[in-house]
Amino acid sequence: MQGELDQADALIEQLQGTDDPAQFEALETRLVGRKAGIITRAYSRMREVTDADARKRFGQELNRRAQLVADLAARHQQRRAAITRRGPAIDPTMPARDRWVGARHPVTAVIDEIAAIFRELGFTIALGPEAERDWYNFGALNFPDDHPAMDMHDTLYLGDGAVLRTHTSPVQVRTLQQYPPPVRILAPGTVYRRDFFDATHAPAFAQLEGMAVDEDIGFADLKATLTEFARRFYGGSRRVRFGPSYFPFTEPSAQMDVEIDLGDGKGTRWVEILGCGLMHPAVLESAGLDSARYTGWAFGMGPGRIAMSRHGIPDIRLLYDSDVRFHAQFAPGAAAEDAR
Ligand code: PHE
Repeated sequence: MQGELDQADALIEQLQGTDDPAQFEALETRLVGRKAGIITRAYSRMREVTDADARKRFGQELNRRAQLVADLAARHQQRRAAITRRGPAIDPTMPARDRWVGARHPVTAVIDEIAAIFRELGFTIALGPEAERDWYNFGALNFPDDHPAMDMHDTLYLGDGAVLRTHTSPVQVRTLQQYPPPVRILAPGTVYRRDFFDATHAPAFAQLEGMAVDEDIGFADLKATLTEFARRFYGGSRRVRFGPSYFPFTEPSAQMDVEIDLGDGKGTRWVEILGCGLMHPAVLESAGLDSARYTGWAFGMGPGRIAMSRHGIPDIRLLYDSDVRFHAQFAPGAAAEDAR
């Protein structure tokens, strides 16, 4: 009889040590299986014990082990149920989920690249408000009241002398009011115009303003800096040219063109990438600077247009649609990957 109890104890010890359902079930059957279980059979042999006290003790020993096995089985079932609740096992035959490859927005990428170049040239980032006093947007920049130049910027008026800024140039005056020269800043931001949303116009778009103010700054500084920028951005051998332009806040005013291959099979052509000029003395005076002592130059460009020409993007609305099929093309290594 003692031999059976010892055998049962050995199996119970194994039972305590396993989590594997098949192994657990096999051990459980060997212990308490209805026909051949060691404990089951020991119960039926109890009557062979003639001494009443010894039979009682033997019965108690068996009960204790049977209870232990029952407790272990209950715990095992609980653990299995918890695992099952966590979800079905992986089905390797299921079709894979689409992997949506994200990417930095092509306009953001252009702004970041330009900012990195101007940072190396000693420029700092400056920001201004998108809801702007009309004085900063126009008056301080030498737009006379009712001047036709204001028609260039179909303005969204907010009332109370406030507008949605039509360009980033107000940051020129705001910066100069706050920081004494020498000042060299790059001001990226969103600007707003009352335009219909079509293939070439958007009512809100990115602009990048640049400005350098110091004593003895002249047109040669402007040309040298912007030419150097174009070479770093587009490549060393790039040809650039400056042509006349007009802005109320610069005098003289110019535009810079870069020779670009738009990848449409038509070869290279001149593409205007920015407007610029020497800052008008009235603008420096608006900011409280002595225009006899200080001079400066400024430029403004549209990173959206630069991104479009760089990638051959035909419709400006693609930049606003958040269509993953469009944006996945700008993910690192997108060309190598099958685009989804
Ligand atoms: N603010 C001008 C525009 O929106 C661009 C510009 C900026 C031109 C600075 C000259 C100097 O078109």
